[in-house]
Amino acid sequence: MLHTKLCDIVGIKHPIMQGGMGPYKTEALAIAVANAGALGIISSIGMAATMLPDAAPIDAMRLFGNDPPAVILQKSIDAVTKGTRASGGVFGVNIPVASEFMLASEMFVKQTIESCKSDSDTERSLRVIVTSAGNPKPWAVLKQEGFIWVHVVPSVYHAKKAEQAGADIIVASGHEGGAHVSWEPVHSMVLVPAVSKAVKTPVVGAGGFCDGASLAAALCLGAVGIQMGTRLIATKESDFEPMWKQAIIEREERRTLVGRGLFGPMRFLRNARAEAIVRRTLSDIPSFYLGEPLDSNEEILKLERTGFDDLIDAKPDTALMFGGEVTGRINDIPTTKELIERIVKEAAETLRTVPQSVLRR
Ligand SMILES: Cc1cc2nc3c(=O)[nH]c(=O)nc-3n(C[C@H](O)[C@H](O)[C@H](O)COP(=O)(O)O)c2cc1C
Repeated sequence: MLHTKLCDIVGIKHPIMQGGMGPYKTEALAIAVANAGALGIISSIGMAATMLPDAAPIDAMRLFGNDPPAVILQKSIDAVTKGTRASGGVFGVNIPVASEFMLASEMFVKQTIESCKSDSDTERSLRVIVTSAGNPKPWAVLKQEGFIWVHVVPSVYHAKKAEQAGADIIVASGHEGGAHVSWEPVHSMVLVPAVSKAVKTPVVGAGGFCDGASLAAALCLGAVGIQMGTRLIATKESDFEPMWKQAIIEREERRTLVGRGLFGPMRFLRNARAEAIVRRTLSDIPSFYLGEPLDSNEEILKLERTGFDDLIDAKPDTALMFGGEVTGRINDIPTTKELIERIVKEAAETLRTVPQSVLRR
């Protein structure tokens, strides 16, 4: 089987991480991934929607009920601690640290620290905080609190910043990935080896990974593991709508689009909603190109909010659904355990057989 530095640092069996994936809490998926021997992740971004009262892109009450965001997170942490107790699985919390999200980021970090202090099972199993979508500098404090600190980056420049700030692991997230991407289209095939060469910190590849061949490729490109988002949505246990899972297994690789989102560019599964967002994004280009301030986000927010309503109301043509290009390589909805075991088995096989078939003495 496979064993890398990622397994040693985090204390997991397989070199695979779940990507944080709002708007859901991804509680059930985090439990399933952790129980399968990889790193499960609770996603906090949707929990904070009530902190952006007028701007909330999702109707948080419909997804999360009336609890305040810190309580929603605390309950999720309790649920995942309970769900992973028997297996000894390990999990983390993803906390986006975009400047627009800062109040929520600080509050979620505080809550995660408190949850670990108040329960010894949580302290054992909640080992990781993954920060993303923002400046890593203020977050070195996470290490002093005893967490393994993972930071997500879209470029070599940002990877060096994360290394300077002291991150334990850097996730290099390529442009083919689902949801948040950078405007600059640097894909995993270029980004992962470039970041792996530029920093000494262990690197995990994200964006486009879904099977044994792509895990083996990531290891050959210098990474110590992979982070998957889109692939894990289409699993039996994942918290996502059945319609979203179905949309992933039906689409070919060309059926995604990048448009402007609330916290920057996002990759969506292509449908009428994504096309409307891209149309709006393209109309912003003259100002963007000339360095002028962009119009307010009003129109985009409206498209996102109604897109989330249509998601909850199960309207596939107009629902807002994120997903990566890798959707074109996903054709089934296995259990998380089956998927992870299949990926590591195939990767080990690939790493064994490819040298035998191509190397000549
Ligand atoms: C539905 C969805 C929601 C996501 N939300 C977040 C998020 O809240 N925070 C984050 O850091 N990344 C988010 N991502 C990115 C994933 O964590 C991961 O890096 C990405 O999906 C990897 O690319 P892949 O989709 O090709 O596997 C999201 C991705 C998807 C598909």
